[in-house]
Amino acid sequence: MTDDTNPSRFGELPEAVVSPLATIEAELARSLEKLEIPASLREAMEYATLDGGKRLRPLLVWHGCVAAGGKGPESLPACIAVELVHCFSLVHDDLPALDDDDLRRGRATLHKEAGEAMAILAGDALLAHSFGVLAGGLEAGVFLRVAGELAGACAQMIAGQVLDTLGLDGKGVDGGSQSDEQKLETIHRGKTGAMLVGALRMGVMCAKTGGRDAHPTEDDTAVLERLTAYGRAIGLMFQVVDDLLDVTQTAEHLGKRSCKDAEAGKLTYPGVLGVERSRALVGELRAKALAELSALGRGAEPLRVLAEYFSVRTR
Ligand code: IPE
Ligand code: IPE
Ligand code: MG
Ligand code: MG
Ligand code: MG
Repeated sequence: MTDDTNPSRFGELPEAVVSPLATIEAELARSLEKLEIPASLREAMEYATLDGGKRLRPLLVWHGCVAAGGKGPESLPACIAVELVHCFSLVHDDLPALDDDDLRRGRATLHKEAGEAMAILAGDALLAHSFGVLAGGLEAGVFLRVAGELAGACAQMIAGQVLDTLGLDGKGVDGGSQSDEQKLETIHRGKTGAMLVGALRMGVMCAKTGGRDAHPTEDDTAVLERLTAYGRAIGLMFQVVDDLLDVTQTAEHLGKRSCKDAEAGKLTYPGVLGVERSRALVGELRAKALAELSALGRGAEPLRVLAEYFSVRTR
């Protein structure tokens, strides 16, 4: 990737925020190398995973761990696992039965490259592998907690995708008495917010502070609550911004198709609130996220920077 296609790695964010990326990138590649599977499946998984993602969810895990008093590296298995689940979700999101997209991270989507059957199966394998990475890299007690968190976040993400794709009653009909804005919030909190909240919470759960190794502890409860609230704000904001980018940016700039949501009949924030009110909502959610961090010390500085970045990112 060039500087132009991946700003989060190349200069727009301070070194203290992006410094874990080299380790994360190397470990992602290593985790796939070790799998004993046919070459075609490995290549499909690597195609979907390596080179190109902004890796924002792993950064939330790592810096969530640091904000909770940890060092960061102890959260590496959770960083890898959350990115594997995210990559699985993108592969399936792009399938003809869902968003039917041809372009992802600046190149052909996996089903265009390797066929639909392989894209479905490689997505399945990425999801399974994510839990293998946790099992192979975390102590038993931490594993139980983190795996439960990842499973829950993933189920909420899939539920959000069902609502986004099939409507509220799962059959393509918008049932119920909710307003479009209420439905939209439910969909966005599920399909996108849940994995961001889960990433932060997994980071807190991995943190080893001082000399203590035991997890969970009473003293991480307050941080967990703060970061959950922070995550809910940035999680919703992330998808509001994604919807705004869909209507304001080109496919060349985004590395994925733009102006597609309205065409596909999706409920989106710009569609329901308009662009200006959607931008105002982004500002409100950023302020809310920063307020949740105010009680935390210097360790939460990278999360403050990320909240700002999430609100102004252009791809
Ligand atoms: C795109 O996520 C899908 C959404 C949940 C909106 P990202 O914008 O984080 O995509 P990558 O990982 O950088 O490609
Ligand atoms: C994707 O939302 C959410 C998940 C992949 C879970 P979108 O469908 O808006 O994401 P893009 O725009 O294709 O990246
Ligand atoms: Mg989608
Ligand atoms: Mg999509
Ligand atoms: Mg989108």
